[in-house]
Amino acid sequence: MADIVSPPPEAAPDWTVPQDWARYTAHEHAIWDLLFARQSAQLEGRAAKAFLRGLDVLHLSKPGVPEFRELSDRLGALTGWQVVAVPGLVPDAVFFEHLANRRFPAGNFIRSADQLDYLQEPDVFHDVFGHVPMLADPVFADYMQAYGEGGLRSLGFGALDKLARLYWYTVEFGLVREQGGLRLFGSGIVSSHGESRFALDDPSPNRIRFDLVRVMRTRYRIDDYQQVYFVLDSFEDLLRQTVETDFAPLYARLEALPDLAPDALLPDDAIITHGTQEYARGKVLID
Ligand code: PHE
Ligand code: FE
Repeated sequence: MADIVSPPPEAAPDWTVPQDWARYTAHEHAIWDLLFARQSAQLEGRAAKAFLRGLDVLHLSKPGVPEFRELSDRLGALTGWQVVAVPGLVPDAVFFEHLANRRFPAGNFIRSADQLDYLQEPDVFHDVFGHVPMLADPVFADYMQAYGEGGLRSLGFGALDKLARLYWYTVEFGLVREQGGLRLFGSGIVSSHGESRFALDDPSPNRIRFDLVRVMRTRYRIDDYQQVYFVLDSFEDLLRQTVETDFAPLYARLEALPDLAPDALLPDDAIITHGTQEYARGKVLID
């Protein structure tokens, strides 16, 4: 989270780099194709309708890792979003500035064959397969832009850690209620073979109805499956709540409230699934 760092020499001032699509090897394209086929099959009947619909923008003229130019043309025609390449994680303000301008910064490296199931750093499969389909949804597209604007604003309040939890528990690990059942849409879930089963089916994690302040109080783990998932009523509801709420008084309130552990349950929680926490038992929380 170093903030006053300058971009690496090969990157532009906004940290973007050319994707250099010609650089991917046949082996790397094959890794994308394998992950894509495996996750598309697994997500049928599990992912939110908006995500499944959005998957269609990833069907480009060539197989393998999507070329960002062509991908951005297709995505741009739907919601005005573009995908730009960055070398890896970028400083917070740079990231928010891109989102606020409807540009999604995507890492351009792809995981190796021995990391198919899990890696902690976002690669092009996570960033593109995980994030781009939801950016094809007009409501979610607006939410992501608003989040970028809100992110820039949060820096002025020193409240980035609180707002980051909102991103984590919606954009990265969110569930949504659809036709009475639960569906996946968080990019960290849909891009993970294991977690896309765990998040819906496993008895271990808590599943709680989304609540803005509750989410911003809740710590999260970055090294393993989540111990809690928050469930949206709808994307419209998420957009409305976040855009219509001035976060400044919330940040002030949050300063006086203690943070919550990922497995905490509160009397006011609307619990959908009371988890056993069996999966996390005995593991040390690294967050
Ligand atoms: N309304 C929020 C604010 O006042 C900004 C925001 C919008 C944050 C959407 C997150 C998502 O800061
Ligand atoms: Fe992500």
